Amino acid sequence: MSSVLFPEGFLWGGAIAANQAEGAWNVDGKGPSVADCSLFKAHVDLKDYKAQHAISSEDVAAAMASDDIDLYPKRRGIDFYHRYREDLDLFAEMGFKVLRTSIAWSRIFPKGIETEPNEKGLQFYESLFTEMRQRGIEPLVTLHHYEMPLHLAQLGNGWCDRAVIDHFLRFSETVFRRYRHLVKYWLTFNEIDSAFRHPFSTMGVLTDRIPEEKREEALWQAMHHQFVASALATRQMREIIPGAQMGCMVTRRLTYPETCAPENCLLALKDNRENLFYSDVQVFGAYPQHRRLAWQRDGVNVVMERGDEEIIRQYTVDFVSFSYYMSMVSSVDAERREKVGGNLTTGVKNPYLPTSEWDWQIDPVGLTHALIDLSDRYRKPLFIVESGLGSRDTVEPDGSIHDDYRIAYFRDHILAIAAAIAEGVDVMGYTPWGCIDIVSLSTSQMSKRYGFVYVDCDDNGNGTMNRTRKKSFHWYKDVIESNGAVL
Ligand code: BG6
Repeated sequence: MSSVLFPEGFLWGGAIAANQAEGAWNVDGKGPSVADCSLFKAHVDLKDYKAQHAISSEDVAAAMASDDIDLYPKRRGIDFYHRYREDLDLFAEMGFKVLRTSIAWSRIFPKGIETEPNEKGLQFYESLFTEMRQRGIEPLVTLHHYEMPLHLAQLGNGWCDRAVIDHFLRFSETVFRRYRHLVKYWLTFNEIDSAFRHPFSTMGVLTDRIPEEKREEALWQAMHHQFVASALATRQMREIIPGAQMGCMVTRRLTYPETCAPENCLLALKDNRENLFYSDVQVFGAYPQHRRLAWQRDGVNVVMERGDEEIIRQYTVDFVSFSYYMSMVSSVDAERREKVGGNLTTGVKNPYLPTSEWDWQIDPVGLTHALIDLSDRYRKPLFIVESGLGSRDTVEPDGSIHDDYRIAYFRDHILAIAAAIAEGVDVMGYTPWGCIDIVSLSTSQMSKRYGFVYVDCDDNGNGTMNRTRKKSFHWYKDVIESNGAVL
């Protein structure tokens, strides 16, 4: 028992994404997305970050020629598409005030280029959001979460092609209009900063289609297109749904200097600034000078059409959302240091922190740090829309799951949020990632579980898909019921 104070109306809940949960990848008119080409990679070296994420044109061709769903588990997800009512009942039982999910673009526009939307896809989300509201759960909706229509990736190499802005805006306008009475919290691009870490899932860009010396420039060009699209979608939202709020979404990769050697401190400052560049653009409405200088230095020419910068300036975000999984370490001696791996890139290991089985370092204090820092920088409401511990769960013979490690993780992170609130930080809510077990982004494993709800499905797709409440389910229910007082 503790007596932590969270503001009234704090949005407790959970988060998933369409491509990792829905399955039904080719049902009711949905077109294939980049996620449907994402191979099962359980045996990849976790310190080989590129191996987790690299996808080539050859991989895509092989994926499209294959109907082996075990190789491409995101096609199966957890069958949320058919079971969402039961799942929403469980979320409501935990007392969720909010559920973050995304709209699979290729369910609405199967190839991304159509002029008319797929009505069945629209109906699915209408029903999903309506049922959320009936249970008192506010939808928080991401427009673009690693699930661009594959056709657009193949056609013009994803967001490298400026024409994608218009395709995206047709999609965003369609869903704003259709769900204007149902959704008031929106995010444009999930982890927009991840574009350089995994260009295919984030931007539909196949880097092997670009000559090596042009790659960096092409990715920055694609990034610029996303910034313009994000600002224009924000304008649409304001026109179509007055009072709705738009957030940007970044992976907060808080970076500590390895030592207090000034060189390490300066490096950490630069690494943090690099990470925050993306939210800087979306909050301040301008490219910072350090990025322009870096482009000049690296010979990168980003083509901006007349009016682009004005659009970015005018339509900035209402709140800043971010994922927080771990902190990082900057060292001028990085080459000689022990490394950790994981989804967020390989980095120098922090000897003060425990490390999960998937090589992610656990650092609740870093969450307080990140919140205070973001609040001081932006003076905007903050929303932690992802955090969590991927781990294996053991089902006892009686069917129970005693995930005390998950409870400990969340207890520490919720206390860390409370510590930031006590410092005056305006936090809108907290949506732990994978509140129900879903397919992992990086390795497509089911065995890397984040949920309060267990899904009976293994890495090979064996299992009933039945849902079970873990011990953490009951714990989180008490947390929400007490507004964070009972931890
Ligand atoms: C975030 C992504 O980077 O990390 C999620 O937005 C992802 O889509 C999450 O699932 C956890 O990563 P993983 O690889 O453990 O699923």
